[in-house]
Amino acid sequence: MTAPLAHFNGALLPLDQIRISPLDRGFLFGDGVYEVVPAYGGRLLRAREHFARLQRSMDEIGLANPHTIEGWIAEVGKLLAHHPGDQSVYIQVTRGVPPKRDHVIPKGLAPTVFMMASPLPTPSREMVEKGVACVSARDFRWEKCHIKSVSLLGNVLARQVSADAGAAETVLFRDGFLTEASASNVFVVKGGTVLAAPQDHHILLGITYELLQELARRGEVRFEVRPIPEAEVRAADELWLSSSTKEVLAITSLDGRPVGAGVPGPMFRRMHALFQDYKAKLAAAAAVAD
Ligand code: PDD
Repeated sequence: MTAPLAHFNGALLPLDQIRISPLDRGFLFGDGVYEVVPAYGGRLLRAREHFARLQRSMDEIGLANPHTIEGWIAEVGKLLAHHPGDQSVYIQVTRGVPPKRDHVIPKGLAPTVFMMASPLPTPSREMVEKGVACVSARDFRWEKCHIKSVSLLGNVLARQVSADAGAAETVLFRDGFLTEASASNVFVVKGGTVLAAPQDHHILLGITYELLQELARRGEVRFEVRPIPEAEVRAADELWLSSSTKEVLAITSLDGRPVGAGVPGPMFRRMHALFQDYKAKLAAAAAVAD
């Protein structure tokens, strides 16, 4: 079997033929940023928002963007033409390949652009109906979590805490307040209101987070963005995770204790239905991006 096609610096190549220099600053320093864009039936979900966030990440690290938003969408379209069905598109831009290793950011380097598509691992029916178990940990990551950086060691170590416990995600608390999870945003439902952590440098502002906020507004669901003390998370009626690959998923146990009634709650079922409806409309649309 030949390897799937991937994008490398403007060319489509079999994934197993792409070679990256060991001097690439992405490899040596984790000096780069990324995006994960879900595609349903060839349609990109919120592509403009994803590429606007990529631009913000690049601005934060002083990396020149090689493409406009329309240019990115066109390049992803070419890749997706070889990957039918629901896909997760991974896009990475690193600072490129300098002549030697030096922490100081070199000027004038051409960035390294890499993209691949793989089948979108959306949650199984069982995960949606039963919810998932999570554990918690102290948020030991850095102070710039709003940058979608490829330097993911903090997130990797956080995720491993739940992997070792056989759980789906690690919910993180910084100084007694909820931030997010290792690769997802977290929502708290209390008394019929959805609570979300502030959109600051302690979390990655998820494109799914923003979509849920918008769906809540349209569906007349109360949604409040504010600091959430750990005690409120522990006393929640419902907890949810969201991400481009998890969509929206109920957390039904945290650190071995049931969340609310221990089953996905009514607010989750409503939000999940709104999300599925949004997805169905997207898949029926004519354009490649919504
Ligand atoms: N992760 N917070 C973190 C730390 C994340 O890594 C992610 C996504 C999110 C949710 O963002 P979005 O809704 O835009 O996917 C929040 C991706 C999917 C990943 O790293 O694979």
